[in-house]
Amino acid sequence: MVSRRDFLKKASGAAATAGALYPFLVWAIDNAPVIPGSEGMILRSERFLDLEMPPEFINSWLTPVPRFFVRNHMHEPSTLDATDWQLTISGEVEKPLTLTLGDLQKIESHSVVNTLECAGNGRGFEQPRVPGIQWGKGAVGNARFSGPRLRDLLERAGVKTSGKHVSFHGLDEVPGKVPPFIRSIPIEKATDNDTLMALQMNGSELTKDHGFPARALVPGWVGSASVKWLSEVKVLEKEFEGNFMKPGYRWPNHPVKPGEALNPDDTHPLTSLNVKSIIATPSDASTLKSHKVHITGAAWAGESDIVKVEVSADGGATWLPAKLGSDHAKYAWRLWSVEWKAPKPGEYTLLSRATDSQGRVQPQTAEWNPSGYLYNAIDQVKIHVV
Ligand code: MTE
Repeated sequence: MVSRRDFLKKASGAAATAGALYPFLVWAIDNAPVIPGSEGMILRSERFLDLEMPPEFINSWLTPVPRFFVRNHMHEPSTLDATDWQLTISGEVEKPLTLTLGDLQKIESHSVVNTLECAGNGRGFEQPRVPGIQWGKGAVGNARFSGPRLRDLLERAGVKTSGKHVSFHGLDEVPGKVPPFIRSIPIEKATDNDTLMALQMNGSELTKDHGFPARALVPGWVGSASVKWLSEVKVLEKEFEGNFMKPGYRWPNHPVKPGEALNPDDTHPLTSLNVKSIIATPSDASTLKSHKVHITGAAWAGESDIVKVEVSADGGATWLPAKLGSDHAKYAWRLWSVEWKAPKPGEYTLLSRATDSQGRVQPQTAEWNPSGYLYNAIDQVKIHVV
């Protein structure tokens, strides 16, 4: 396994080779805080915990929870006691409900294997740069989420015909005047058989970082839809319009020129994820002694299936088909691998490109937008074969 120091070193590699910064970077790496239990993860923010998985950790279909990225906009709730915790179902319903964790645990549980990806994953590659957490490749993970279907809870409460959207309210500790984390999804997605009130991840109760005791699981959609530390599910007549729905997490109605500002009224909320693949191994900037190179990675496409992944080692002139892994489920990523032989020693750039069941192909350049959402350009790693 590669150490955290090695990862951080690699991340800062370009600057380090510039020379003058090197002693400072080594000092910073050695003194960088390590979040207990998260060794090896890339710390993107400590104030509000944001952890990224180095892509080299993708070596199993299900991502172990300690390696699953964490994205928090605010402080995690510090005093959340499962015995006092309650979830209310309110708004446009005939019979508002208040449920305890025990009540939820008695309702029939379903499982969905879902690739959860932050809408901002890959933002750090946008040109021109955009503000926000500069995620690399690993604000993504694949896990089995389990819990009651949201539709079963909504049926108990009886949704009125006026109920068109469902909002989720998270119990984050809100700094200053920041509004609470509330997001909504349309009633059709809320009542889909696969949308869950998740209580478990990979067969164990949710950890605090991932939303204990209950989070929404909106499969195939951007990670922000899956609100953590739920306190309230509210049925609404129209889409919720708070900060994290508007201006946050929206996509331009028309293509935007790189660098151009965006009018929030000319946007719509993000929903399903893009088609995307990333290369897990070999690592970027690695030196390989063997000419036989085993290239691995993962590919996902939100609510669609991955049908093809291809790899190129000659700048896209020719593409080799990858073998797709046997583990497969709707909304879940597909692992893939390719054997490639370097014709001679030298520097190579490996590219990966996925195609999904809708015919969407990972593009050469991602569609630029001012928040750097849904970045999905063809992935690349540079290697040196000796
Ligand atoms: N829910 C609450 N309450 N607060 C948050 O900050 N972040 C969202 C979503 N749910 C968030 C939240 C975002 S942007 C993402 S990508 C996912 O949680 C990340 O889930 P994870 O931290 O379990 O990986």
